[in-house]
Order: sequence, then structure tokens, then C-alpha cells
Amino acid sequence: MIRIIKVKDYEEASDKAFEVMKEFIAPGKVLGLATGSTPLGLYARMVKDHKENGTSYKDIRSFNLDEYVGLEITHPESYYAFMHRNLFDQIDIPEENTHVPSGLGDDLEGQAKKYDEMIDASPVDIQLLGIGSDGHIAFNEPGTPFDSGTHVTDLAESTIRDNCRFFDNDMSKVPTQAVTQGIGTIMKAKNILLIATGANKAQAVKDMISGPIDVSCPASILQKHDNVTVIVDEAAASLL
Ligand code: GLP
Repeated sequence: MIRIIKVKDYEEASDKAFEVMKEFIAPGKVLGLATGSTPLGLYARMVKDHKENGTSYKDIRSFNLDEYVGLEITHPESYYAFMHRNLFDQIDIPEENTHVPSGLGDDLEGQAKKYDEMIDASPVDIQLLGIGSDGHIAFNEPGTPFDSGTHVTDLAESTIRDNCRFFDNDMSKVPTQAVTQGIGTIMKAKNILLIATGANKAQAVKDMISGPIDVSCPASILQKHDNVTVIVDEAAASLL
């Protein structure tokens, strides 16, 4: 079931997301984390809460959704670097408790399988998601089977275009592949929190919530999950 929370704008969406997330920031919890511009406001609130209220992440574990193939972890646009810069380095979560899939090495599929095994051993309590303008979740592009596990994938051209703003606006600098949790992996999370803001997400939000459950909109599978909260701002909700 999808619970929809409509808010005015990005700031309100981040406030609401923090309210939902706060319940899960407790010893023993496993957080599923995401990258992109969308979760930045939420992460800023988590950092502020940690600094001002001493909320601790010492006994929390985290699993990220995805990583570009071929980017060194020191590259500022690697998702590993993104997570350290925007969250991990600013809270007290132990490095060994954090997991970001690796996009480096000669056995990416083998590593992906191990990643799923780790998640199976530590089921995710709440998975945070953004949504791509083409309806992708993590890097599961349209056409990805709903039962997929963590795997290597080619990025859609629209995704490369959307993400080139992080790579000097140069499409040739954007990696063309990624390692991503599969849709089957994501669906195992006990709770899902998806945030969508901005007009360029409106069509994807409409397809996710009221479209048929079809691989052409990967996020539409969330209609089948028991506990999904979707936070949308006015612009992203404009086609609902
Ligand atoms: C990226 C990520 C997704 C993210 C999406 C939207 O490609 N792999 O996890 O949700 O695209 O990004 P943004 O939040 O910047 O709009």
C-alpha cells in the first residue's frame, strides 16, 4: 500500500522525510540509503539532529542502493564519496557499519551476489528512495525485471543526461554503467520511503502511483509493497 504525503516544496518534503526516518534512527536498525539531490535535505537534518541532540548512529548499519562502475571511491561523484561527504563523515556511524556497493574489480556480478547475501543477513528496516525522471529506482531502468537482485546495469540515455550536471555537464564524462540493488532487493525492505520533488518527476510519480504495474515504470512495483510512504511536493504531484 502506498501512503501519499503531499507537501508544498523541497524543504517541507525534507522535514517530513526526517519525521518518518527519525523513528528508525535507533540501536540495531538497518537503514537503506540513497544518493542524488533528493535526499540531501534529509541528510542535512539527520546531521543537525546528531550534532544538536546527540542522536547516535553507533549501532546502526546502512546499505546504499547503487554505485557507478569504474569510478574510484575518491572521485567526488562516486556514491561512496557522496555518502561520506553528506552523511557518514558528519555522524558517528562506524565505517564498518556502512555499505556502498563497489563498482570496481573484475568480478562485479560476484560482488553483487555477496551484497545481496549481506542484505539478506541484515534486512533493511527502512529503504529511502528517490525516483528517476524515467521512473527508475536506484539504477533499475525501465525494462528491469521486478525480481532482479543486485546486478550490473547500463544507464539509460535520459539518466546519463539527468546526471551530467554532476560531471561538468559533459555527457561523455558520466559513467555508462552502474551496480545497483535490484528491484527484488529493494522490495525486501520492511518499509520504503520515497521522496519526489520538482516538475520533472511529475510523470514518473503519476505512473508509479496510478499507472499499471509494469516494467516500463520500475517504481510502479511499489504498489505491491505493504509499507510505502511517498512524499511529493506540489510540482511532482501536479499530474496526480
Ligand atoms: C539517480 C540515482 C537514484 C536517484 C535518481 C534521482 O540516478 N541512482 O537513486 O533516486 O537518480 O536523482 P535526483 O534525486 O538527483 O533527482
